[in-house]
Amino acid sequence: MEGARKYLPDNSVDLIISDPPYGIAGDTLHKHYNRNESLVLDGYVEVPADEYPAFSLAWIKEAERVLKPGGSMYIISGYSNLIHILNALQNTSLQEVNHIIWKYSFGVYTRKKYISSHYHILYYVKPGGHPVFNTFSRYGEMEKNDESKGSLNYQDREDVWFINKEYKHGKIKNKNELPTQLLVKMIQYSSNEGDLVCDFFLGSFSTAKVAIGLNRRACGFEKSSVAFNYQIREIKKIVPGSLIPTLRTPAARKRTRQGERITEAERERVTQRYSELKTKKITQKAALSQMVEEFGRGYWSLLRILQQASG
Ligand SMILES: C[S@@+](CC[C@H](N)C(=O)[O-])C[C@H]1O[C@@H](n2cnc3c(N)ncnc32)[C@H](O)[C@@H]1O
Repeated sequence: MEGARKYLPDNSVDLIISDPPYGIAGDTLHKHYNRNESLVLDGYVEVPADEYPAFSLAWIKEAERVLKPGGSMYIISGYSNLIHILNALQNTSLQEVNHIIWKYSFGVYTRKKYISSHYHILYYVKPGGHPVFNTFSRYGEMEKNDESKGSLNYQDREDVWFINKEYKHGKIKNKNELPTQLLVKMIQYSSNEGDLVCDFFLGSFSTAKVAIGLNRRACGFEKSSVAFNYQIREIKKIVPGSLIPTLRTPAARKRTRQGERITEAERERVTQRYSELKTKKITQKAALSQMVEEFGRGYWSLLRILQQASG
């Protein structure tokens, strides 16, 4: 919260993805607050359970402040403290879009009750702007599942996600590291290249690493100096855009306005939108690909409009 107040101006962040500490470690918590780093387990700082409601409200209020109007936020939470996060969200202007269930493999084994193998992902937006939701960034409108013949786009956008946790044998990692595919999905749907993605609880810096790999900018905070000092060196190894070649290319869909006459007003909107996107320092190709979705026009016809406008 202190870091956000110091470094992040109001309305400056396009997307927040945060996986806050769980607040479930009971009596052993004082250990984590001990300044002796040898007691910090896995570089993970917990929040005492009785402080969790106030803690949730404080950081979520800060998140609300720094998000741009129309910006999106995803909060990942287990069920134990979900109520406090939902209560905190109720005390902000943020609007619920979806309550997603993330089903993962290898839940903690129990004999006398059901095995817990899901998390909640709360997807909210800040009112007052146009939220980014790139509907066809991963699967085209007409793509079908070979077996069930169902729409792949529909399936990918259902609110129950089956994504496995990753096991990185022999590598130093945060115990609670989020899988790359989960982060890729949220970042692809809810941001564009050049956007600023923030994680208030960086842990292994997974959100920031994936954001940079997808050519977004990243910022965030981590209270454990053990985790921070290690990961701040690791993140320098991530090459911006390096994850982009690993993404599938969705099959092109019919452009909704293809063939319709282009009006002067539309020409103006196209040139204006292009200048806006260029201020984010993204490539011409990335800006035009985004505008293809927004304007329902083909790539080349948008390029022609821009060329004609610049004479
Ligand atoms: C559930 S983990 C996040 C894991 C992360 N998403 C990943 O993929 O590695 C929560 C993190 O929040 C950190 N943390 C706890 N309190 C914090 C605070 N007040 N400010 C910033 N980070 C904090 C913990 O040390 C821990 O690394």
